[in-house]
Amino acid sequence: MRKPIIAANWKMHKTLREAENFAAQFPAEQDLYQQVDVVICPPFTALQVVGEALRGTGLKLGAQNLYPRDQGAFTGEISPLMLKDLGCSYVILGHSERRQILQEDNKFINEKIKSALKHGLTPILCVGETLKERKEGQTETICGNQLLGCLADLEKEDVSKLVIAYEPIWAIGTGVNASPEDAEKTIAFIRDFLAWQYGLETAEQIRIQYGGSVKPDNIKELMKQKNIDGVLVGGASLEVESFFSIVQGAV
Ligand code: G3P
Repeated sequence: MRKPIIAANWKMHKTLREAENFAAQFPAEQDLYQQVDVVICPPFTALQVVGEALRGTGLKLGAQNLYPRDQGAFTGEISPLMLKDLGCSYVILGHSERRQILQEDNKFINEKIKSALKHGLTPILCVGETLKERKEGQTETICGNQLLGCLADLEKEDVSKLVIAYEPIWAIGTGVNASPEDAEKTIAFIRDFLAWQYGLETAEQIRIQYGGSVKPDNIKELMKQKNIDGVLVGGASLEVESFFSIVQGAV
């Protein structure tokens, strides 16, 4: 049985005060957070205040990126050691916004995954296709290639620690979510792919999320799907009420 995992990706939203208010208002339902992992990923600037507010609640802290070196002359970057220091246990890597806007490629994401694992951070690796690729029937090829590149040289023991988020780019922030059946189809493909690469046992351990216009009213149908173990939420994670009802809908 895989434990569901619901993660909030705040992207570049919230001032310190707004982040602090969210964390202070988010219900501290210890029992619920035993049944479902809930991860809040604020921008770097708010990691400390949110981390402090979440201490002892059972909620987990995640970052949205890292630079794959322990320290050094890398102006403007944040290392995995710094994230650990702030209490992070997860880090989102390979998000399509970083792939598209900041030109991150699979090789660089692979370095980041290795660096996260070296420091005991759990990567949430995002994969997904554009609308054009989907229309051309390329969804599985694209997701397969992203997985091959991002997971290169990793042992199955490491791969089993990852969370993978399938985020079709056409569904992100558009209000158009993939239907639960479509999401399940690609996520089942991802699990088969992992089984082919790392064996069935490893593939069965890996938690795979769906991301893209997840809302309180579509969470239940998504979570009913056999291979969907959780969701990665953007817009609807910015309000306490909507994110908490997504968490409640996941169990
Ligand atoms: O990482 C989450 C994401 O990209 C989905 O965003 O706003 O469509 O929930 P949104």
